[in-house]
Amino acid sequence: VIPPEIHRVLTGLVGNALDAVASVDQGLIWISTASAAGGAEILVRDNGSGIPEEIRERVFEPFFTTKPTGSGTGLGLSLAYDIVVKAHGGGLTFETAEGAGTTFRVFLPT
Ligand SMILES: Nc1ncnc2c1ncn2[C@@H]1O[C@H](COP(=O)(O)OP(=O)(O)O)[C@@H](O)[C@H]1O
Ligand SMILES: [Mg+2]
Repeated sequence: VIPPEIHRVLTGLVGNALDAVASVDQGLIWISTASAAGGAEILVRDNGSGIPEEIRERVFEPFFTTKPTGSGTGLGLSLAYDIVVKAHGGGLTFETAEGAGTTFRVFLPT
């Protein structure tokens, strides 16, 4: 992989997880790695707000943000998508439940 690019992806996902747990009582973030069929996966999971259904298909759009002006650029996930999917031929997906949390999965092929 291109390490500084994957670093940007992970700091972006962890930053989002931190924002998502900011308003819950016992915020937790889990980061794990595993081998997967054809490559490796990195999971970044939080028990924060979750992503509301009505915005789920927009989160990878450039400049899409739900954060106040000055705190979000809306570029983190679109950049992560470009790095992981376009530059590395991998996959970037998520599972989420409103009020329960979100797991982002980065798949990197060998
Ligand atoms: N872990 C998460 N939990 C809840 N919402 C998230 C999470 N990650 C991303 N989002 C949603 O996706 C939007 C876009 O994320 P991103 O591209 O990183 O931009 P930004 O963080 O600057 O808003 C966020 O504004 C937020 O609404
Ligand atoms: Mg972000």
